[in-house]
Amino acid sequence: MAYLKPDKPEKIYVPALRAAKERGEKLVCLTAYDYPSARIVDEAGVEIILVGDSMGNVIHGYGNTIPVTMDEILSAVKAVKRGASNALIVADMPYGSYHTGENTTVRNALTLMKDGGAEAIKLEGGRNRVQLVKRLVDEEIPVVAHIGLTPQSVHKLGGYSVQGKTAEAAKRLIEDAKLLEEAGAFAIVLELVPREIAAIVTKELAISTIGIGAGTECDIQVLVLHDLIGLSFGRLPRFVRQYANIREVMNEAVSKWIEDVKDGSYPNEKESYGLPKDVDINEIES
Ligand code: KIV
Repeated sequence: MAYLKPDKPEKIYVPALRAAKERGEKLVCLTAYDYPSARIVDEAGVEIILVGDSMGNVIHGYGNTIPVTMDEILSAVKAVKRGASNALIVADMPYGSYHTGENTTVRNALTLMKDGGAEAIKLEGGRNRVQLVKRLVDEEIPVVAHIGLTPQSVHKLGGYSVQGKTAEAAKRLIEDAKLLEEAGAFAIVLELVPREIAAIVTKELAISTIGIGAGTECDIQVLVLHDLIGLSFGRLPRFVRQYANIREVMNEAVSKWIEDVKDGSYPNEKESYGLPKDVDINEIES
């Protein structure tokens, strides 16, 4: 059997994360749910693309992540895979896809990897997921854990608020992170946790922390692409820095096109097709 060389040197694989942490180099992660955005963020140099269940809020308009299905994530992963050449592709396990037993979880994770092309999966939860993470890792499935604010628990939590604010809750978060590392997760998302706690977790863990609303000390920063480019609706959380206003750009473009159509200036001759010169229009018109 010949061992094929990995695609190319720029391609990011799981071990690159630990190597970057050891070098003290920060990495970046963004969400993407389709071919063009995957291609754009990959070409811009983002090292990790998360096909997040934030798609529930951002592209499906569900209002939260609860209704997101395996089919929706799978279809998005396939499109992202076609668009991204270098970034590591992580697929979120949607709510319900890892809650009814280890075998079902493994099957769903394998679907995202085998059919979708994901290179790792992410799931939410702390000590309650340790056994599951061990099983997935035993089955050669790279796992990103996710603690702090876990949006799939929105009904239990009663909203989206900063987690780990008391000494007791902070200690529990740190313990959870260590347990998930021991279970074999290769990275851990820290969402909406005090920066001091994220700094402790980042220092005490050998695996990479991926922060969102968790301060600057995390090894990797992640944002929802649509928030960063101004293509989302509603009030943005304070940790989001918006670098563009794509909603405004789209609105202006569409409004201008409507105007041009209504006043007859679109389409012009160059934007349409004429009959060949040797065809006589009189022969066609009755
Ligand atoms: O679904 C998602 O986009 C996420 C990030 C916010 C970490 O889980």
